[in-house]
Amino acid sequence: MNTAPPLTVRELIRRIEQRFNDAGLYFGHGTDNALDEAAWLVGSALQLAPHELDAHLEDRPTPAQQNAIRALVEKRINTRQPLAYLLKEAWFAGLKFYVDERVIVPRSLTAEFIVEQFHPWIDPARIHRILDLCTGSGCMAIACAYAFPEARVEAADISEAALAVARINVENHGQQGRVQLLHSDLFSGLAGARYDLIVTNPPYVARAEMQTLPPEYRHEPALALASGAQGLDAVTRILAAAPSHLNPGGILVAEVGNSAASLQEKFPSAPFTWLTTATGDESVLLLTAEQLRQHHAAFAPTR
Ligand SMILES: C[S@@+](CC[C@H](N)C(=O)[O-])C[C@H]1O[C@@H](n2cnc3c(N)ncnc32)[C@H](O)[C@@H]1O
Repeated sequence: MNTAPPLTVRELIRRIEQRFNDAGLYFGHGTDNALDEAAWLVGSALQLAPHELDAHLEDRPTPAQQNAIRALVEKRINTRQPLAYLLKEAWFAGLKFYVDERVIVPRSLTAEFIVEQFHPWIDPARIHRILDLCTGSGCMAIACAYAFPEARVEAADISEAALAVARINVENHGQQGRVQLLHSDLFSGLAGARYDLIVTNPPYVARAEMQTLPPEYRHEPALALASGAQGLDAVTRILAAAPSHLNPGGILVAEVGNSAASLQEKFPSAPFTWLTTATGDESVLLLTAEQLRQHHAAFAPTR
């Protein structure tokens, strides 16, 4: 007869961390290491928010809870699905979002700049209308609605499937009156609309890089990742059209990931400001409406 007490939450997390490391999983969809991913899995299975977990490390989950946790661990390893899809949840800017395979897992580095209200780049008092272009799950639009409580937010995506997920999140956060969802191919459905702040995390993965992505990425919509040979197709179109959608004094903030160097190379004279995250990453660019207008000729489509 096995008389050993059930494992504590702390022990479970350590064992799962070891299993995840042994299985060679990729971490980059909400966490960046096995320990954090194990803690997220266990916390979520026990219905604890990340900030609540520390107070429960010596709890001993029931056999039923341990079985549920074990099943999630096996599924994560065997399917290589990002944990967010297995849990149907993701955390972004301190907020919880519903996610499934219709949208990428929220992880934009823009989160920390939204929470800081883009200080010192713009005075929050002058932000009345915001656009989140390529909204996916709606995470950036909803985070903006919290960060700028006086502003009106629009959130556009070309994917109706993604917009259906965004709708769930807008409702879960009670933001129906503040966040409007729009079906649009970049700016094409937004004729005449002008904003004080445009945020965007468009697709930006280069064709060759698409082939080398770890298996976890294959569960995400390719439409959300791939953007032409250099990964610059979407952002190039955005730079060309943004000037006519920004009010004077407005700003464009766009994440371009690993394509930052190619973008700078493509537009050598463009005065991109690369925002620095807490961890030193510089793949989110900022341009003012005035800079975009001054460099309009450089960004205009070539034939
Ligand atoms: C990298 S995901 C970003 C999603 C979300 N903003 C986030 O940060 O988690 C890019 C999104 O752009 C959308 N998209 C791709 N091409 C588009 C286009 N031409 N016009 C509008 N949205 C587009 C995709 O459907 C996807 O939801």
